[in-house]
Amino acid sequence: MDETTEAARGDDRSPVTIIGLGVMGTALAGAFLNEGHRTTVWNRSASKADDLVANGAARAATVAEAVLASPLVVVCLRNYDVVQEILHPVGDALSGRVLVNLTAGTPQQARATARWTAERGADYIAGAIMVGAPMIGQPDALVLYSGPREAFETHRRALGSLGVSRYLGAEPALAPLHDQAVLGGTYAMLAGFVHAIALIRTEDVDAAEFTSALLIPRLEAMAVYMHRLAERVDTGDHGTGVDWNLGMQAKDVSNLVQVSRAEGVRADLLASLQALMDQAIAEGHGADDLSRVVETLRTPPAR
Ligand SMILES: NC(=O)c1ccc[n+]([C@@H]2O[C@H](COP(=O)([O-])OP(=O)(O)OC[C@H]3O[C@@H](n4cnc5c(N)ncnc54)[C@H](OP(=O)(O)O)[C@@H]3O)[C@@H](O)[C@H]2O)c1
Repeated sequence: MDETTEAARGDDRSPVTIIGLGVMGTALAGAFLNEGHRTTVWNRSASKADDLVANGAARAATVAEAVLASPLVVVCLRNYDVVQEILHPVGDALSGRVLVNLTAGTPQQARATARWTAERGADYIAGAIMVGAPMIGQPDALVLYSGPREAFETHRRALGSLGVSRYLGAEPALAPLHDQAVLGGTYAMLAGFVHAIALIRTEDVDAAEFTSALLIPRLEAMAVYMHRLAERVDTGDHGTGVDWNLGMQAKDVSNLVQVSRAEGVRADLLASLQALMDQAIAEGHGADDLSRVVETLRTPPAR
């Protein structure tokens, strides 16, 4: 059967090519094979394909052969520079295919690769894998995608072999942008955690007990507040019905900075937040909610 027709029908066994068989690429190829897809693989170190080939995958001798084998070409390599190095010499072979790049990268890299792919007559979908390799193929493995909707819909069922697909929109930057934003939120929360533990450990306090009894319950309660803040950002209304405003919060943070320093704990992590709050207040937003600081972050500081 014609490969393109198979894919267009959403046949769950439409052919798939995987380029890059590192830890993640091997997991991806295994998941496609498990779902019965005709799976063609290529990797620089060819021996990494041996187990997959033993399980039914086809080994491509060259990158071009791998690209030509399937209407859906999935790449998962160390970084975008490697993607470029591998794909640029075979760009013409991509014509008429859908390239799904599951390599971690930046929004700018996704936009540039989408332009390059379009110039070769192919569709580009940027992906972001939100779980570790061992979870690929499990029902709760989340993968984000952005790029042309039609191309995504054509291969939705095949991509579903990897886990749960979340389609974010036609702009290719969206998947890496969401990935980075989630990472940003994660690290900023962990920054709060390490500060709290550094402070509590200035006395002989059990960090694990403090974390489970006091810190985690408080952070969990903040989820409701974060939903409200996000709604304020969406509506642009930072000021209606605020009961814990920036002026009050800035006093808490300023106090925390002083207390931390007095106890011999560096306050660098909180000082950045304090500076942003102070800027928003100086600009006349002290009665607003913390959501206002989202705008402050996106505005260069006045000289
Ligand atoms: N591992 C995870 O759990 C995980 C989770 C989420 C996202 N990711 C993302 O998935 C991507 C791949 O990660 P990974 O864990 O699979 O990495 P990895 O195990 O280090 O594999 C890297 C892959 O890139 C290839 N490669 C590196 N340099 C190359 C070059 N110059 N020319 C040709 N091929 C080259 C390697 O080929 P060789 O085998 O020949 O070295 C291998 O296939 C990364 O962007 C990573 O951030 C991974």
